Amino acid sequence: MVKAEDLVLPSVAALSPYEPGKPIEEVQRELGIGEPAKLASNENPIGPSPLAVEAIKGALTELNRYPDGGCFELRNKLAARHRVSPAQIFIGSGSCEVLDLAALAFLRPGLNAVIADHSFIIYQLAIAASGTRAKVVPLREDYVFDLDAMAAAIDGDTRVVFLGNPNNPTGTIYRRAEWKRFLARVPEEVIIVADEAYFEFVRDPDYPDSLEDHGGKRLLITTRTFSKIFGLAGLRVGYAVAREDLIRMLNNMRQPFNVTSLGQVAALAGMDDLEHVRRTIAVNSEGIAYLEREFARMRLPYIPSHANFILVEVGEGRAIFNQLLAKGVIVRPMDGYGLARHVRISVGLPEENRRLIRALSEVM
Ligand SMILES: Cc1ncc(COP(=O)(O)O)c(C=O)c1O
Repeated sequence: MVKAEDLVLPSVAALSPYEPGKPIEEVQRELGIGEPAKLASNENPIGPSPLAVEAIKGALTELNRYPDGGCFELRNKLAARHRVSPAQIFIGSGSCEVLDLAALAFLRPGLNAVIADHSFIIYQLAIAASGTRAKVVPLREDYVFDLDAMAAAIDGDTRVVFLGNPNNPTGTIYRRAEWKRFLARVPEEVIIVADEAYFEFVRDPDYPDSLEDHGGKRLLITTRTFSKIFGLAGLRVGYAVAREDLIRMLNNMRQPFNVTSLGQVAALAGMDDLEHVRRTIAVNSEGIAYLEREFARMRLPYIPSHANFILVEVGEGRAIFNQLLAKGVIVRPMDGYGLARHVRISVGLPEENRRLIRALSEVM
């Protein structure tokens, strides 16, 4: 019998599917736990923007229609907000779709892509799916991307560099000076993907906004998302900003109706909900400060975070994950990321954070 794995690229046959955060319903079903606290997928704990929810209700009776395949209104609104032309915006089914399409469009066997170790797993999946080799560069000792080493890893066959700022799962950022030095070193024909899914959470004055670096000939793709700060992860809307010709190639690859109608109206309304954004940031800042204080008190090493999650060293990460699960707290084991001694904890509501700390104190 012909085996399916013999019909695909060897890099695809070797893949394992992405392990998402355990869904609440699954934990309820398997462990019979009433109300688990899900702190596993870096979601917005306060919920979606109420304005977005209202907008969705208004669009429900039109569900028999296909969505606007060009996302006209959302593209125009994002273009105005970021002071670029609508032709420089690509809207995707989550920013993951943009990352995927960037790999599919620009990578192929024989080329390579440069990534950092312990960075978002989707980069590796997308690179492997395109049959390209990943050149993986170690992080610095402080878990920050070593941009100098990443620039040095670029060779004549490198087509794309994937950067996450902040990075998932470390929550670390690279700063403006390193970023500018990196930009100056990257050859003109190499595409830089700056994944800024957690952009809006960062408070550091030296955090670089890659949208400021889009001028001239540079092949730079900035990705952002409605999944995190705007609390719309379930609707799958993300976007890219880049030169028009790069955006055109992404559009050539996508499904004609890749973004749902509800996603589009929710994103449009959510963008204007400044009160929801303000509350999200306040809950997050308070949550990060609380978790860092508690980890310090428990003498658990943690990596100071600029995002809405935090990586903490607990010993046997997978075992601690399972013990927390039994207590109804879902965190994320990190063995798949090569960080078997850590778990990643998304910031929750204050009572969820306290529940996590109580459970962690009991199992440690
Ligand atoms: C670094 C990073 N980039 C991108 C994403 C993708 O988000 P989405 O596809 O929901 O926009 C995530 C989600 O967890 C992430 O952590």
